This record gives sequence, C-alpha cells and structure tokens, in this order.
Amino acid sequence: MDTSTYKSEVAAAFDRAAAAYDRLGVEFFTPMGHRLVDRVAPLPGERVLDVGCGRGACVFPAAERVGANGTVVGIDIAPGMIEETTKEAARQGVGNVRLRVMDGERPDFPEGSFDVVTGSYSVIFFPDAPAALARYARLLAGRGRIGFTTPVFTDDTFPFLPPVFTELIPRELLRNLPPEWRPERLRQRFNSWLADPADLVRTLEGCGFRDVVCEDETVRLVAASGTAWVEWSHTQGMRLLWEHLGPADREALRERLVSSLDAMRVDDGPLTIDTAVRYVTAVAAR
Ligand SMILES: C[S@@+](CC[C@H](N)C(=O)[O-])C[C@H]1O[C@@H](n2cnc3c(N)ncnc32)[C@H](O)[C@@H]1O
Repeated sequence: MDTSTYKSEVAAAFDRAAAAYDRLGVEFFTPMGHRLVDRVAPLPGERVLDVGCGRGACVFPAAERVGANGTVVGIDIAPGMIEETTKEAARQGVGNVRLRVMDGERPDFPEGSFDVVTGSYSVIFFPDAPAALARYARLLAGRGRIGFTTPVFTDDTFPFLPPVFTELIPRELLRNLPPEWRPERLRQRFNSWLADPADLVRTLEGCGFRDVVCEDETVRLVAASGTAWVEWSHTQGMRLLWEHLGPADREALRERLVSSLDAMRVDDGPLTIDTAVRYVTAVAAR
C-alpha cells in the first residue's frame, strides 16, 4: 500500500468514527490528553499546536491553560474530527482555538510558529513519524516543547491494545487486515524508533530535540460493560480491524469480546482495563 492510500484509509476510518469518537462514555483518551497537557504545561499566552487532535482531548485543556492571550491550533487529517471539534469549541464558547484539516506529518506553518507541540495517540499513525518530528522541531520557537503519547508495544500484543487482548483476538483474524496494518508490519515500523525508549531518545535527539523524557504510566480505561467497550473499539485504531472482517468473523469476535470482557467485571460494576501509555516529552535543541 502506498503512503497516500494508507493515509486516505486512516482519514476515512477516523472520519466515519468522528461523531462517536471519545463520546461513548468510555474513559480513556480524555484523561490521557489531560495528563499529556499537564506534562508539557503550556503557559498563559503560549501558542500550542496539537497534531491529530481528534475530538480535542488535548485541545481543550491546552486552551484553558494558555488563556485568552494564547492560541491552540488543532489539526487532523479526518474532516469529521475537525467539524465535530469546531462545533464543540463553539458550544463551549472557547475563543482561542483554531481547527484545520491538515496532514499532521506535513504541517503547513512558518518556522517558529509555536511554543508547544502535542500529539496524543496520533503520531503512531504517521508512515514516517521521525520526519514529522524533525518538522515539529523547526515549528517550535526558542526552547519550545513537544509532548506525545503512544501505546506501550510488547511483542505479544495486538497493536494499539493492552496485552489482555492478545488472548481475546484470535491471531488468524489479523490476516484480514491490509498488509500495512498487520501486527508484524506495524511492529517493524514502530520498532524502528518507538518501542525501545533508548531508540526514542536517539530518534528525538536526531530530530532536533534534547532533554527527552520517556515515561510509562497506567491509564485506567473504564467502560460500562463489554458491549460498551466493543462499541467504543469501533471509534479508535481497532476500527481498522473491524472494517476488514467479514460479517461472520465480525459477529463471532463481537460475541467473544463481549462475554470475555463482561466476565472480567466485578459484581456488575464497570469494566476497567489498566493500560500502559508512554508519555514522551522533549525540548527543542537550540
Ligand atoms: C487515536 S486518535 C487520537 C485523537 C486525539 N489526539 C485524542 O487523544 O483523542 C488518532 C487521530 O489521529 C488522526 N490522524 C491520523 N493520521 C493523521 C495524519 N497523517 N495527520 C493528522 N491527523 C492524523 C486521526 O484522524 C485521529 O483523529
């Protein structure tokens, strides 16, 4: 699959997911975005760029921090995400946010336009993330900061999901994915710079950053039930699997996930899945 077909597929999948994305009552992206913004701590008056902004998990907390004299620009390749987040900003009366459809790998802004760049669970979708990171270093003014999150990949994990799903999603189903999405290909891409913190530090330093900090933390995913989790999984990276399964496989996987996830709940309480998230922050080297 060439790069532009790959990007069109990603954009189309997130476009279809946009209306429900992060709005199904499952807690995960919003707390992670808040935490990332806390880590880069934008100051009043600063200019923030959020790449792959989705429904604003970083945009809104960043807008609150920079205040009326600052700005937050959110970009996303999926027009539906920008449309929904624009509506949300208007609904909340947030005046310091600008949202644009744009490829986050090639942000079209003059050098030195921002003080902070964030990207939560988005740079993992870029075919050549290190090239994008080098562009972000140039977009940052002075000793600007970058912060992004990624899943913590382990060899036996279905990409994007915590290890508990390794058992729940039969390996043979993953053969339905287009080659670019198969775990071994994703892993090849991620292992080249992302899976090992030492590679991450080296990559970021090579892209024009210093003081790289890479820390894994647990984000507690909370969903009302197995069914709620399955609905939610259609709005994130796993949608790329759902969309490539035939009807029978889709139904069988849905049933298996719902019953196994419900079995993990205690006394009919919510489903909770502790998920390791990698927080990476760095400062532009000048
Ligand atoms: C898992 S979502 C994360 C969204 C948001 N940052 C959050 O934390 O909820 C990934 C987002 O990255 C966007 N994305 C993927 N590839 C992109 C690209 N090349 N340029 C800009 N956005 C991209 C998707 O459209 C989607 O909104």
